[in-house]
Amino acid sequence: MSELIIEGSRRLEGELTIQGAKNSILPILAACIICKDECIIHNCPRISDVDVTIKVLNYLGCKTVFEGNSLIVDSRNIFKNDIPDFLMREMRSSIIFLGALVSVMGKAKLCLPGGCELGPRPIDLHLDGLRQMGLIVNESHGALDCETVSGLRGCNIALSFPSVGATENLILAAILAKGTTVITNAAKEPEIVDLTNFLNKCGAKITCCGDSTIIIEGVSSLHGTEHTVIPDRIVTITYMAASAVTAGSLILNNVLEENISSAIPIFEEAGCIIKISKGNSLKIDSPARPYFNRLIRTMPYPGFPTDAQAPVMAMTTIADGTSMFVENIFSNRYKHVGELLRLGADIKVEDKVAIVDGVKRLSGAKVQAMDLRGGASLVVAGLSAEGRTVVGGLNHLDRGYECLEDNLKSVGASIRRV
Ligand code: UD1
Repeated sequence: MSELIIEGSRRLEGELTIQGAKNSILPILAACIICKDECIIHNCPRISDVDVTIKVLNYLGCKTVFEGNSLIVDSRNIFKNDIPDFLMREMRSSIIFLGALVSVMGKAKLCLPGGCELGPRPIDLHLDGLRQMGLIVNESHGALDCETVSGLRGCNIALSFPSVGATENLILAAILAKGTTVITNAAKEPEIVDLTNFLNKCGAKITCCGDSTIIIEGVSSLHGTEHTVIPDRIVTITYMAASAVTAGSLILNNVLEENISSAIPIFEEAGCIIKISKGNSLKIDSPARPYFNRLIRTMPYPGFPTDAQAPVMAMTTIADGTSMFVENIFSNRYKHVGELLRLGADIKVEDKVAIVDGVKRLSGAKVQAMDLRGGASLVVAGLSAEGRTVVGGLNHLDRGYECLEDNLKSVGASIRRV
């Protein structure tokens, strides 16, 4: 098994370009099958979650070709409507193919995503909404067998929680449905806006209203298009945290300020000076030691993202002050805490609350990534720690970070994969 070896306490300085957003590319690739045409997706991150999604596309009958960071998907010959268990198990967000398959094939057979490293992963909101649209869902022993009798029909769906995945699945199912679908209390994450922008370029008629309502007027078919995926806001925040813990000075290119507006004040309060230029580039200059006395609550967008909780917590472990985190989205999202403790952090967890008393310095140790963003927090902490940190569990990090160690090395980190 590979590990990252980090010799910490080195100042980061230099320039990085932010990869395309993982949470945009996955639903966009699923949406490509509805086009039954050729789509060219630029700024596609080369991460393992994309590799698994490509395996699903190929299994369904799509042709895929990478040209650098552009992925060409030809879905003209899609002929299957099932996803085998081994692919569903490789990536739980494959559930996003449910809405796309019932939209274009009228049928879908796949297994339930089950629990995952962040806690239980129910899809009741996805299924309730799809049933309202006329989908017949047979659930048995963890398998889903879904079909429509005479196509899906538009309706009004009020989500009890603004689930990202449910919103995406319902949008995908509604595109070719008869009539108009109105989703209220929909998720408003930037990646959902990116998905709807892509779909509208393909001929869909989707309007995102500012008040969490999404209106989808059904159309008879879609066509192919070219699209550039938005920058990954969680990767941006991870590199900002890496700057903050190393007294660093980083220029991050390809950043959308409005998508990280809940995180910028946190770094500013920690003493970082942030300048954003018109050309979508962000400069972060960090103090010798960050200071922080604050409560951070994870919330649906535009609140502070649950995915950024772990990397930002890594920053607070060495900040001067006491911070409190309240994790409101997932029930099991503090797995990185035990590993941060091995590096000398002072953190107490009770249920959804974590209290971090900043220590002057961390010291290197052997740690294990338990999930994607928790793994990123260990890399951030390792960059600041004195001595050598060894991070295992890289399969988690590779799901979402493109060229992580090469990027960090290029700005002065001592980090290598063995
Ligand atoms: C997506 C993101 C993930 C991010 C999360 C929250 C992708 C590929 N993943 O995950 O990185 O952390 O949004 O911003 O985009 N829930 C239910 N019933 C449902 C659906 C969800 O109870 O039918 C609960 C979940 O268990 C969780 C919460 O709602 O506690 C949020 O889940 P959701 O917004 O659906 O997250 P995902 O789409 O899975």
